[in-house]
Amino acid sequence: EAAEKGGYDSYMLKEIYEQPTALTNTLIGRLHDDTGEVNLDIGLDPASFKRISIIACGTAYYAGMVGEYLIEQLARIPVDIDVASEYRYRDPLVSEQTLAIVVSQSGETIDTLEALREAKKGGARTLGIINAKGSSITREVDDTLYIHAGPEIGVASTKAYTSMVSAMLLLALWLGRARGTLGGEQARELLHAARELPRLVEAALAPERVARIQEIAEKYAHASDYLFLGRGVNSPTAYEGALKLKEISYIHAEAYPAGEMKHGPIALIDEDLPVVVVATESRLLEKTISNVQEVRARKGKVIALLSDGDTENAQHADDVIYVPRAHEMVSPVVNAVAMQLLAYFTATALGKDVDKPRNLAKSVTVE
Ligand code: G6P
Repeated sequence: EAAEKGGYDSYMLKEIYEQPTALTNTLIGRLHDDTGEVNLDIGLDPASFKRISIIACGTAYYAGMVGEYLIEQLARIPVDIDVASEYRYRDPLVSEQTLAIVVSQSGETIDTLEALREAKKGGARTLGIINAKGSSITREVDDTLYIHAGPEIGVASTKAYTSMVSAMLLLALWLGRARGTLGGEQARELLHAARELPRLVEAALAPERVARIQEIAEKYAHASDYLFLGRGVNSPTAYEGALKLKEISYIHAEAYPAGEMKHGPIALIDEDLPVVVVATESRLLEKTISNVQEVRARKGKVIALLSDGDTENAQHADDVIYVPRAHEMVSPVVNAVAMQLLAYFTATALGKDVDKPRNLAKSVTVE
C-alpha cells in the first residue's frame, strides 16, 4: 500500500498532487485555442434541446453547480440542477427538449443512475460526465464525456472534482460556440485560460503555499464550526470547501453565498467562528469584501482566499491564503485546491484518517 501511495502519507494527498496531470488529461486534445474551437468527440447535437438538467450527488453535485453557472453564462441555455436523490422522486418535468447531464466520478452511484433512468423515461437526451471507464452510467447514457482524472481511491474526492469542473467548462465553451452565443475572441481568451489550468494548479501546490495553508489549518483546527462564503461561480467553491472539511475532519461547516449571509448565518458569527471567504478576482470582488467587513465587525475570524498581488484586501482578513491569479471563469478549479489542502491539514492536525473517514463510502450503490 505504501508503494501505491507513491511516497505520500495518504491517497488523498497523492491525488491532490496529481491534479496538474489529471487536468492535462481532461483538457488534452479537446482545446484548440488558436481557432477558439472545442472538440468533445460526442454525438450530441448541440441544437437539439432547449433546457438542461444537471443531476449528481456529493462533490459531483458541486461540480454541477459550477457547470450550471458556466453553461448559462456562456451558452445562454436555462439550466436547473438537482441532487439525484431528490430528482428521482420529485416527478421532474422532462421532455424531448431536455438534456439531462449526470455527473459522477464512479459512474455507479445508485441515486444518480436511477435519476438518469427517470430522465430517460421522460424522453430526455442524456450525457454523462464520468471518470470510471465502462461504469454503469456510461452504459445507459447517450454520450459520455470522460474526465480522464485516473483512478481516485481517497474517499474525499479531489482530482475528480477539479477535472469535472474543467469538463463542465469545456462543455459550456462547446455549447456556446455551437449555439453562437460565444464570440471567437471571448472563446479564445477562455480556451487560453483553460489551457493554463494545469500550470496554475501546479503553482497552487508550491511548497510555500502548502506550508502556509497547513499553518492556518493548524491555527483553527480546534474550532467547533466553520463558515464558508463565496459568490457567483465560486459559491460552489465554498460549498465544496465546507463538504471537504466535514467529510474528513468532522468539524461542522456550513457554506453560504456571501450575499445571503445577512439573512441568517450572520447570527452565528463571534470570535470563535473561522469564516473562509473566497475573495479572488471577480466582478463581484468589491461586494464580497463588504461581506468580509460584516464578518469582521462581528469579530469573526476571516480566512480570505485572495489572488496573488492583492495586498489591499489583505487588511480585511486575519489570515490570507494567496492563490495564483486566474480568469474568473476558471478560478473555481484553482481555488478548490486551497480548500482541499485546508481540509486535509485540519484533519491531519486532529489525527484523523483522511483516506477512511467514518461512515462514508467512496461510492454509494445502495439507496
Ligand atoms: C459518495 C462519496 C463522495 C462522492 C459521492 C458521489 O458520497 O463519498 O465523495 O462525491 O458519493 O459519487 P460519484 O461517484 O457519483 O461522483
